[in-house]
Amino acid sequence: MAEKLTASISLDRRRTIGTISPNIFGGFIEHMGRCVYEGIYEPGSPHADADGIRIDVRNALRDMGVTIMRYPGGNFLSGYEWTDGIGPKNKRPKKRDLAWKSTETNQFGTHEFMDYCASLGSEPMLGVNLGTGTIQSAGNYVEYVNAPTGTYWSDMRAANGRKEPWGVTWWCLGNEMDGPWQIGHLNADDYGKKAREAAKIMKWHDPSIKLVLAGSSSNDMPTYPTWDRTILEHCYDLVDVLSMHYYATNNNNDTPSFLALAVDFEAYIETLASTIRYVKALKRSDKMVKLSWDEWNVWYKARLDSDMDGSWTERPHLIEEVYNLEDALVVSQWMNVFLRKCDVLEMACMAQMVNVIAPILTKKDAMLLQSIYYAFKMHATRAKGVSLDSFVSVATSNTTKFGEVPLLDVSASWDAASNTGACFVVNRSLDQSITVTIAYADGQGTVTAVRAESIYGTDPKAHNTYKNPGVVTSREIPVQSGSQGITITLPPLSSTAIDMRG
Ligand code: AHR
Repeated sequence: MAEKLTASISLDRRRTIGTISPNIFGGFIEHMGRCVYEGIYEPGSPHADADGIRIDVRNALRDMGVTIMRYPGGNFLSGYEWTDGIGPKNKRPKKRDLAWKSTETNQFGTHEFMDYCASLGSEPMLGVNLGTGTIQSAGNYVEYVNAPTGTYWSDMRAANGRKEPWGVTWWCLGNEMDGPWQIGHLNADDYGKKAREAAKIMKWHDPSIKLVLAGSSSNDMPTYPTWDRTILEHCYDLVDVLSMHYYATNNNNDTPSFLALAVDFEAYIETLASTIRYVKALKRSDKMVKLSWDEWNVWYKARLDSDMDGSWTERPHLIEEVYNLEDALVVSQWMNVFLRKCDVLEMACMAQMVNVIAPILTKKDAMLLQSIYYAFKMHATRAKGVSLDSFVSVATSNTTKFGEVPLLDVSASWDAASNTGACFVVNRSLDQSITVTIAYADGQGTVTAVRAESIYGTDPKAHNTYKNPGVVTSREIPVQSGSQGITITLPPLSSTAIDMRG
């Protein structure tokens, strides 16, 4: 019989990593496949309101705890003319979207997105096209969205039904401009110069905006991290965050390595944080640019070229990835990394939100919550205040890709205002439960566990279907508080949140 595994987690409320930015629980919706059309917006669905908004989806996103929403792309952004998506719907042009070889009807645009964010309770984050788009068009967009009426573009906004400026804070300077696949792809110097000139114009229109510089599309790009250093050298004084993207894969069906990906996520953040520190020193700047991990998710099962080709149709089924238990455990670790690196991370957006590599799938009359929905919600609805630096004592296991990796992946948060906290633990073991003791070594009063919730199962490939929607979900599991601390037995292949009260 296998030896019973035990572990300990030591926390100290004085030993904090940093304040958790609510923006790390962001989402991303792109004009791609059925994300916007049939996901967010579907006139004719029994679940749509009078404006065509899918209420079931909106409520699910709200429950999931999405704080900020990035829009309208993605690769789509680099060919998008924002002026196509405003004004009377029957006058909006139908156009070819070259990013996804689809037909874009423009029935959903800036006004619809802004209304959507308001009804969802999420902050909007817009992108300007730096592929085919000009720096003039980027400036015009800021004027349209944020300027008081009295000039051409702001008056057009009012004529289109919105008198008051929206005052959007976060703006992305293009998308994945390092990628040869990008419409209007540039080299680092050319992008750095274009982003800088766009940023100047955009900030002249509204100095209060915050700008996202398009960093590396992944840490295996041949230009990484030189791309990031170069563009930061061009734009450091004008931007607030550097974006990073990454899609996790398990192409070799190597589950132990897949479940150790947090090692790679941390290294990626560390490298870019160091690159930022280098440029900060070079520029003799007092400002600390932070990171925006504004595209992240598991994506490899629906990644053939044909999965990304809409054959010039409207609302094609593109990259509708099905998520299983092991994917959810990777998502949980990713969010653990966000908490452990919250000192350098301002923002993160799961890509995407509906149908396209998404936690939510829809058909006309139904919606399905995938495994990763529960993983995202677990962190997003709990983690607030400060992130705590945990000391974890646990056995390791060997992985092909990352060598010895601890069996537990841990993060913790504490909110002094409500005197509550949470500890998030992924048990990477495929077959062994682990009994964990969590103790607060800070002498600041007793902490007790309120409840614990876990996503677990025996089959890493188990997934939800419309017929069986509850296969991978979050369930309450027992937890005890005693004089030695909090004790909980974590099932193999599990992601658990323990709610605590001080
Ligand atoms: O999210 C799908 C695509 O992945 C995005 O459009 C692009 O930015 C990335 O390559």
